[in-house]
Amino acid sequence: MSDGKVRIFDTTLRDGEQSPGASLTSAEKLVLARQIADLGVDVMEAGFPAASEDDWQAVRRIAVEVGTVTGPIICGLARAHKGDIERAWTAVKEAHHPRIHTFLATSDIHMEHKLRMTREEVVAKVREMVGYARSLCPDIEFSTEDACRSQPEFLVEVLTAAIEAGATTLNIPDTVGYTTPDEYGKLISYLIENTPGAQDVIWSVHCHNDLGLATANTLAGLAAGARQAEVTVNGIGERAGNTSLEEVVMALRTRHSRYALETGIDATQIARTSRMVSNYTGIPIQPNKAIVGANAFSHEAGIHQDGVLKHQATYEIMTPETVGYTTSKLVLGKHSGRHAFKVHLEGMGHRLTDEEIVKAFQRFKRVAERKKVVTDADLEAIIADECFREEQLFVLEGLQVAAGAPGMPTATIRLRTPGGEVETCAAIGTGPVDAIYRAIDSIVKTPIELAEFRVNAITEGIDALGDVTVRVRSQADSVRTFGGHGADTDILVAACKAYLSALNKLVAYQGQYTNHATTNRSSTIELVTTA
Ligand code: KIV
Ligand code: ZN
Repeated sequence: MSDGKVRIFDTTLRDGEQSPGASLTSAEKLVLARQIADLGVDVMEAGFPAASEDDWQAVRRIAVEVGTVTGPIICGLARAHKGDIERAWTAVKEAHHPRIHTFLATSDIHMEHKLRMTREEVVAKVREMVGYARSLCPDIEFSTEDACRSQPEFLVEVLTAAIEAGATTLNIPDTVGYTTPDEYGKLISYLIENTPGAQDVIWSVHCHNDLGLATANTLAGLAAGARQAEVTVNGIGERAGNTSLEEVVMALRTRHSRYALETGIDATQIARTSRMVSNYTGIPIQPNKAIVGANAFSHEAGIHQDGVLKHQATYEIMTPETVGYTTSKLVLGKHSGRHAFKVHLEGMGHRLTDEEIVKAFQRFKRVAERKKVVTDADLEAIIADECFREEQLFVLEGLQVAAGAPGMPTATIRLRTPGGEVETCAAIGTGPVDAIYRAIDSIVKTPIELAEFRVNAITEGIDALGDVTVRVRSQADSVRTFGGHGADTDILVAACKAYLSALNKLVAYQGQYTNHATTNRSSTIELVTTA
């Protein structure tokens, strides 16, 4: 199938979530899934359901709540095993358009050392497992893992078996980011020309960025006839990441005369989605990142500034507005009320419940008292903080900090614990943030390490909201890290919220506590003791 439409297959919640330290809670995945659906992606790979009960639950919830009649295809990844395929199917089957995506490696190095299978066994397995998946679901994607280090003639053999067994999309991953644009383009052309039945399926490209070539390779694959691009927001993913959604979408759009291909993406949602993915995963965006980096549309050199002022197109091939950067400011005067606030949020694409509007509005008022102008970026931070926060086991009830030089930075913290009591603790630290974190630690009593601490100003100016991102890990498990972020005009409060948010995720993951509430402070929280 080779029309002019490129299907955008977003794998931010699966391959992207495999980025070091990016682990997302299921509530965060659901919020991101809604936003990624609003972007207009055609397929959303919501996760790897066989990986854990949590992953299965998260995919199922996305299938039910985001995979609606008008929503995207919801896809679950499965190794070429019956058990994995069943898990993927039970997780996605309630979506209006479900898809199972199964894969098996085809390179000699993977078959010999990882799978310990012969070529004949691989072909037989693909036939059997694709056939099994197809007996459950009408929409099946099959991937030849490590395709770019596989022998092309053998790929044709495997892909022919996949088509005969019922695959509807064939994906050719550059799993290790090894290929180059000319080589990948030739491979895709060769496979399309030589695989019987090639015209009846969609060909898909999936590239990793180890040599910084993922976007170039993806575009070469599309030019050669592929009509699905597998991408992640901000290019997050294993090692150097995956192809970035915003780069492919904007390259196809800006260079339409070169490619003559369209996507169904609403580009004005790009900036917002990018910010949300960065906030939730705790993975910062490099300032010079194409399309979504802080400097992507700023001009420093005098000669460039002069040119842009005379005519924007002298040095800008896209406008910031096309990807959703607005300079719109919401000024809260004495006549601005909750209604105007709600309408403004709707204009930004937020669909909040009445309860969420009330919470966000109260916070907005408090921010507006301290800050003359509240921008859309501030509002995004307020909403992420007030409305999309994961259930809190330990809830901040009060914070007081004394700092200065010379002196002993001291923090007093009051937390509501999962048992419902309010505990207060004071601690001295090397600085005010250290004092706050020590005070929290002495209430939570879970040995952790702070792996990362970052402060950003959301907007310019001395009254900017400070956005703090932290990453923590348990001393007992140094591999898995948990991110948290907090925003406030008081940087110490932001630091405190960020730490508590990360800590709450870690504690919830360790399973010491279950909370029957979702973001409801007054509901019953049960303490569960583990053996
Ligand atoms: O990179 C890869 O090979 C993958 C497959 C599972 C599609 O992510
Ligand atoms: Zn991948």
